[in-house]
Amino acid sequence: MLVVNCEGRFYAIEDRCTHDDGPLADGELVNGCQVECPRHGARFDPADGRALTLPAIRPVASFPIRVSAEGILEADLSVESPTPPRPRRGHRR
Ligand code: FES
Repeated sequence: MLVVNCEGRFYAIEDRCTHDDGPLADGELVNGCQVECPRHGARFDPADGRALTLPAIRPVASFPIRVSAEGILEADLSVESPTPPRPRRGHRR
């Protein structure tokens, strides 16, 4: 899971690009609050996991997250955004 701090708002998304499994946590936040994959540059909206640019066309899973009264970030992994099933294939790294 990748937790993104976007100007003080927190979002939790799957840490795996839907294009070819790139590690999104190794990418950067660009254009305000877009997560850019370090492998081929696809961008995702961390608020809902939408793919914003090619080569990714499918969203990443996103999870509700909140800050507890103790100031601890809590992500609810039991509630995943509707994400189409990912076809499994061999790795091409
Ligand atoms: S693996 Fe993320 S853009 Fe290709």
